[in-house]
Amino acid sequence: MPQQTPLKIAVLVSGSGTNLQALIDRIEQGDINANIACVISNKAEALALSRARQHGIPTEVLESSAGQKRSEYDALLVKILHRYNVRLVVLAGFMRILTDVMISAFPNAIMNIHPALLPAFPGLNAQRQALEYGVRFTGCTVHFVDSGTDTGPIILQAVVPITAEDTVATISEKIQVEEHRIYPEAVRLFVQGSLKVEERRVKIQLA
Ligand code: GRF
Repeated sequence: MPQQTPLKIAVLVSGSGTNLQALIDRIEQGDINANIACVISNKAEALALSRARQHGIPTEVLESSAGQKRSEYDALLVKILHRYNVRLVVLAGFMRILTDVMISAFPNAIMNIHPALLPAFPGLNAQRQALEYGVRFTGCTVHFVDSGTDTGPIILQAVVPITAEDTVATISEKIQVEEHRIYPEAVRLFVQGSLKVEERRVKIQLA
């Protein structure tokens, strides 16, 4: 069968970019037929940007300016994404809430990873929330982004047990191991056309 053109992806980051790295690695190993067309950060100093540059991936910094509305920022973001012909937007530690301007430009084509088993512990400091609540299991969730905070249709989840010795730091580490496994896997499923969203449920159709 002829190889299809790699799907163009953008990865949006604000920080260290370990999930970006996991995705780059899987693509370079030839497991995902995608091309990271650009990495966009809202922070000029994000380590994720140097990871991208080391792999020859174009980078863009889009910082917010004083008095700018979130929708205005998102309109600029959409412009950049269209310029690169992006088909899938991967949020990897991007510390901004998206508005409908972004969501309507990429319906069911924006993914996020959250460090908890949604719908439990949405929002910030999910690992601390889980530890303080006393749950025995937490984990991570890859989901499509809708207009709520961490509320979109769930694609994949992985479970991490919490032991009596765990701290926020150790739980975060264990969750990241799982994130680096399931996030590239979710991207791979999207790229090969295996994800079908039916209301809240994401059907995985294996080829
Ligand atoms: C991850 O823990 C993810 O769950 C959250 O942001 C963090 C990003 O980490 N959304 P990194 O920048 O990929 O290392």
